[in-house]
Amino acid sequence: MNKKPPMLSPSILSADMAMLASELELVEKAGAHWAHIDVMDGRFVPNITIGVPVVAALKKHTRMPLDVHLMIIEPERYLDDFVKAGADWLTVHAESTYHLYRCLAAIRAAGAKAGVALNPATPLSAIEYVLEVVDMVLIMTVEPGFGGQHFLTSQLPKLAALRKLIDERQLPVDIQVDGGINKDTIVAAAQAGAHIFVAGSAVFGAPDAGQAVQDLLAQLDA
Ligand code: DX5
Ligand code: ZN
Repeated sequence: MNKKPPMLSPSILSADMAMLASELELVEKAGAHWAHIDVMDGRFVPNITIGVPVVAALKKHTRMPLDVHLMIIEPERYLDDFVKAGADWLTVHAESTYHLYRCLAAIRAAGAKAGVALNPATPLSAIEYVLEVVDMVLIMTVEPGFGGQHFLTSQLPKLAALRKLIDERQLPVDIQVDGGINKDTIVAAAQAGAHIFVAGSAVFGAPDAGQAVQDLLAQLDA
């Protein structure tokens, strides 16, 4: 079990896209820590969402750090643009680039924290030799592309193995989990070693998003 305090990063993928500023204000007031922004290109994943201009616009409307999750092919082409737009954390998929090490180092050089994400089928070994240039590892607990999917319990051993690896090497690397996080799954993800939780439909699909933030965080206090 991880000892760092838990943090919630609500994903705006499930928010009202015409009301993003007020949606973020609502969850920030309720105690959310980061704003998770899912960028999809219709190639790496079969869905298209939002891009650089929306990140830049949101930066002016929230104090929460922007946690930008790139689900795009060749993310190295856009790293500087997203950092300039205000991404505090920029996460790329290990499967999306031929040159992962260079890509992660470039995120840091541009001035943001570097995250690396793994699809459910990708083994931990894909990132074993880049951890020195990583601030966060994101374990996907659904296939990326859409909100509202079921949490894949098959990823819990991967989370636990990552926690063990990071602790053994005493690395300052955070562990984030994304996909199917709700009141029934968040504790298992925490027990396996995650401490940053992305939640989309469980927050913005709830009747009261602020209450949903508080309920999710309360699960971790128990
Ligand atoms: C999926 C995205 C997630 C998504 C999570 O590809 O990366 O951030 O918004 O949605 P839920 O929490 O509904 O699974
Ligand atoms: Zn995401």
